[in-house]
Amino acid sequence: MAKQDKYIVGVDVGTSKICVVVGEQKPEGGLDVIGIGNAESQGLRKGVVVSLDKTVEGIRKATDDAELMAGIEISRVYVGISGNHIRGFNSRGVIGISAKQNEINREDIKRVIEAARPAGMPADSEIIHVLPQEFRVDDHEGILEPSGMTGRRLEVNAHIVTGSTTAIQNMLTCIQRAGLTVEGKVLVQKANAEAVLSRDEMEMGVALIDIGAGTTNLSIFERGSLWHTAVIPVGGFNFTNDIAIGLRTPIPGAEKIKKKYGCVLSHYLEEDAVFEVSGVGTSKVKMVPQQLLVNILQPRAEELFRLIHEEIKRAGYEGVINAGMVITGGGSLLTGLSEIAQLEFDLPARIGKPTGIGGLVDVVSSPAYSTAIGLIKFGRSEADYDTASTNTGVRRLFSRIKDFFFTDYI
Ligand SMILES: Nc1ncnc2c1ncn2[C@@H]1O[C@H](COP(=O)(O)OP(=O)(O)OP(=O)(O)O)[C@@H](O)[C@H]1O
Ligand SMILES: [Mg+2]
Repeated sequence: MAKQDKYIVGVDVGTSKICVVVGEQKPEGGLDVIGIGNAESQGLRKGVVVSLDKTVEGIRKATDDAELMAGIEISRVYVGISGNHIRGFNSRGVIGISAKQNEINREDIKRVIEAARPAGMPADSEIIHVLPQEFRVDDHEGILEPSGMTGRRLEVNAHIVTGSTTAIQNMLTCIQRAGLTVEGKVLVQKANAEAVLSRDEMEMGVALIDIGAGTTNLSIFERGSLWHTAVIPVGGFNFTNDIAIGLRTPIPGAEKIKKKYGCVLSHYLEEDAVFEVSGVGTSKVKMVPQQLLVNILQPRAEELFRLIHEEIKRAGYEGVINAGMVITGGGSLLTGLSEIAQLEFDLPARIGKPTGIGGLVDVVSSPAYSTAIGLIKFGRSEADYDTASTNTGVRRLFSRIKDFFFTDYI
């Protein structure tokens, strides 16, 4: 099999599924998806590894399938990091620029970003990203690229993303035990944004909502940067569980019903629409009106968006989400969900599907693939950056800096 070279691989280890996507870089600049592998995820709880063996097995299976489809041997991968151990907060760094120096250079930017790192990190906690939001040179605010400017004092506002060292290390160990090398670790929210948000939305202010299996990730973007992240402890599984209880049917059956008929608003239903349900411990099948499913799912959807709204208000970002909400993740596939969001927020809402890729788009243009596609798009922008700085001295300096930046900044 061919070696990896021009291919970029993303591994999304979610709570319900593990997904490996292979992207091929096109000479003219595009990215084609040429391989996909999926496996059931059985070793995670709420985005965190609780069984190494089961997770390794799933990663290996998804990787084998993706290799077979793409006809390449996968070695280096980008992996998504998520879970309720992730914390995000804003921080500020300040440095002086020497009077002898004319212009602010990359070394100064690196120093000021270092200065924004919080001093005492709690034990078992590490920084995943330091994402600059805006710079200030002397009294001039809102600067996105201070390099080359003249000033005596450089400040940066940055969003710091931290996570539990143990949780991150366990994920990296699984990747390594599956025979892969970690090329980069990327916050899942960051990957999702790469996959589904437009630059305009990120500029105007948008709430990105990723409804996964166990949890929902919220991230607020404004002026092109990430300002706030939070995890809401409600996900697709809660909807399934409500169906199982409400219809007295086992969980696997409830999950199938949700995927096939799941709807949160009555006006999508055809009159007198019914579906089949089998009871717990019996082979008897009963016919149930779809309206009953809406009665079960709608309150849960309303609760989810109310919790998200409360979090946005609490964090002080209600006034900034001018572009509204973009909802993604497998849990966003319930019919009518974006309308519930619109009603709660009185702002536009849309379902976010991955865009900006070629190849097997029919398969991956589902919101369930946002993270995996975002990972390869992230990898692609890193590769662009690497090609741009071929001088090794510059490259070494930049490769330190690029850990801190949204890649498109560089
Ligand atoms: N067609 C569908 N209709 C409704 N819900 C769906 C559909 N397809 C998938 N889901 C739900 O989406 C959820 C899984 O979403 P996703 O694949 O984004 O999660 P994950 O990445 O595995 O988990 P997490 O991000 O929480 O770690 C499950 O609860 C599943 O039931
Ligand atoms: Mg996910």
